[in-house]
Amino acid sequence: MQELTIRQPDDWHLHLRDGDMLACVLPDTARRFGRAIVMPNLKPPVRTTADASAYRERILAVRPAGSCFEPLMTLYLTDNTQPDEILRAQASGFVHAVKYYPAGATTHSDAGLTDIVRGDNVFAAMQDCGMPLLIHGEVTDPAVDVFDREAVFIQRHLIPLMQRFPRLRIVLEHITTRQAVEFITHGPENLAATITPHHLLYNRNALFRGGLRPHHYCLPVLKREEHRQALVLAATSGNPRFFLGTDSAPHPRQDKESACGCAGIYSAHAAVELYAEAFESAGALDRLEDFASRFGAEFYRLPLNRNELTLVRQPRSVPDIWPDERGPLVPLRAGELLQWQIRD
Ligand code: DOR
Ligand code: ZN
Repeated sequence: MQELTIRQPDDWHLHLRDGDMLACVLPDTARRFGRAIVMPNLKPPVRTTADASAYRERILAVRPAGSCFEPLMTLYLTDNTQPDEILRAQASGFVHAVKYYPAGATTHSDAGLTDIVRGDNVFAAMQDCGMPLLIHGEVTDPAVDVFDREAVFIQRHLIPLMQRFPRLRIVLEHITTRQAVEFITHGPENLAATITPHHLLYNRNALFRGGLRPHHYCLPVLKREEHRQALVLAATSGNPRFFLGTDSAPHPRQDKESACGCAGIYSAHAAVELYAEAFESAGALDRLEDFASRFGAEFYRLPLNRNELTLVRQPRSVPDIWPDERGPLVPLRAGELLQWQIRD
């Protein structure tokens, strides 16, 4: 296949940041996606509906001319979040989910819940009004190996949470393991998961190919090949509870190439193209549209996009570093080839 036209996709997990970085990265997402669920892990975090409204305005202010891209806002759950904030968020019409970070699990997560049961009053309100809970599913217990943190989170925290709140709508974000795939596959209808392009295309060897590769470092960290294969099977299975979420997470180059480099992979410049590669390798390009453009919208109870996006099978190289005002950001595949391009 040389050309593929699909309904315009949405990105159900995205970091847009703020200020100059926001202005720099937004065009890449707006060119490909109709909407995106925007993560709230700013400094300080997006805690309230009022914060989310102000952040949304800052995003819209730098949206490229002529773009209809719609940011779908989220709130950051802290130990102090109150149930009435959920009601305000639900009533706003522009807050579409609440994000739970275990405190200390990842970038800008220090304001997250120190113990998941501290969220129980809020989870009850969310369950009642149908607001989805987005979970960074990794334990922070230092005794648990970093490669096992997702699988342990499911057993230790997610299963008990689902027992306490069986009707809570949950998205387990950026899943990385066979255990997560199996858990979602056998789970109830109100449980879904997003899958990133990097976890579909790379295993943990990518972190060490010829030397230490900080631009392949993200959280949850890349896993073994058997887990990557399980993710590819899930994404291409046609199961509507697996859908697209890039977790594109830009950091300035100096923060990645450092003695203590930040977690996060920037993929928005090539997101749909990368998913197309993963689906093509699995012989499942015909399943890309549902994964990218249908299942997420259905889970979030939003209408499908009406526009289309055309991909052309034509190799293009990604610059080493953005040569322009994007500044020192190193994108995924920098200096290497992509197999697909977006046609304007
Ligand atoms: O790799 C990651 N980067 N994982 C996260 O959970 C957060 C994200 C970020 O904000 O940089
Ligand atoms: Zn993320």
